[in-house]
Amino acid sequence: TIKILMDTDPGIDDAAALTMAINDPKIDLKLITTVAGNVTVDKTTKNALKIVRFFNQDIPVAAGAEQPLFKDFEDAARIHGESGMPGYDFPTDLPKPLHKTAVEALHDEIMASSDPITLVPTGSYTNIALLFSEYPEVKSHIDRIVAMGGALGMGNMTSAAEFNVFTDPDAAAIVYKSGIPIVMVGLDITMKALLTNENIEKLQHLNEAGQMLHDIIINDGDHNEKGSAMHDVNTIFYLLHPEAITTKDMWVDVITQGPAIGETVGDIRGAYHDGKTNAKVSVDIDADAFNDWFMEEVKNIKM
Ligand code: BDR
Ligand code: CA
Repeated sequence: TIKILMDTDPGIDDAAALTMAINDPKIDLKLITTVAGNVTVDKTTKNALKIVRFFNQDIPVAAGAEQPLFKDFEDAARIHGESGMPGYDFPTDLPKPLHKTAVEALHDEIMASSDPITLVPTGSYTNIALLFSEYPEVKSHIDRIVAMGGALGMGNMTSAAEFNVFTDPDAAAIVYKSGIPIVMVGLDITMKALLTNENIEKLQHLNEAGQMLHDIIINDGDHNEKGSAMHDVNTIFYLLHPEAITTKDMWVDVITQGPAIGETVGDIRGAYHDGKTNAKVSVDIDADAFNDWFMEEVKNIKM
C-alpha cells in the first residue's frame, strides 16, 4: 500500500479525491489536514469531516492555515458554492477535528512513520510551507510530494496562474525549492481528463457514494457540456496508475509577484538550470483510462 497524507480544501474535486483515497485498498490515508482555499478553513475542515463521517472512517482531520503566508485570501465559492460541497445532505453528527494544528499533526505523523510517506496537497501549499519552515527535519522523511497545482503556460485563475498556486504563490515557491521530489499534477492533464457527462449521470445509479459524488459534481460552477474537471482526483490516479500519465523532468519556478503571480514556469528547454530538475511535470494523460478508473473505483466502494 501507498502511505499518504492529504492536505486539502474540499471543494468538490477534493471530496472526490478523498473518496478515492479513503476507499482504495492500495492507499493508506493516515491523516487529512485542511487549508483555506475553495472556501474558508472552517468550512474546508467541516467538509473533510463530512466525507470521513460519510464513509464511517476514523481518519484524523487537523485544521490548518486560515490564510496564505503573505497574499490576501480569495476563495473560489463562485465555483464550489458557499459551503464548498453543495447539493448533498451529509450526516450532521460530525467527528471533531484533532486538538492540534495541521502543521503539528503533519510533523507528528511524518516523524512517527517508519515507512516512506507521500504528501498529497490538493489545495494551496500554505501548511506544507509552514511545516518545512518550522520543522525542516521532516523533509528527509518525505518520499515525494504529488501535488495538484500549476500548469505550463495556462491558468484557470489568471491567464498565467492555476488556483492552488495562485492562492499562495510564496508557499508554492518554498515547496518547489524544498529539495523533495515533486510530481506536478497540473491543468495540462486535469483539463484534458474531464469526467464525462455520461459518466456523471451514471454515478448516481452505482451506489450511495456515486449518488453523493453526482450530486456535488453537478453543482460544480465549471461543469459544462464536455463534463467536469476532477483536478484533485488526478493525484490519486497518478499514485495508482502512473503509466497513464506522461511526465517530463524539469525545473519549475514559481512567480511570486507581478502580473504573472502564481505562474509555474517550467524550464522546458532545460536552458536555465544546468540540466537540474526539481519536478516531474504531468504533460499528458489517457483521459479514457482516467474515466474508466474513476467509475470502477466508485463501483467498488462498499459502505
Ligand atoms: C484546483 O483549484 C481548486 O478549486 C480545485 O479544488 C483544485 O484543487 C484546480 O485549479
Ligand atoms: Ca482543491
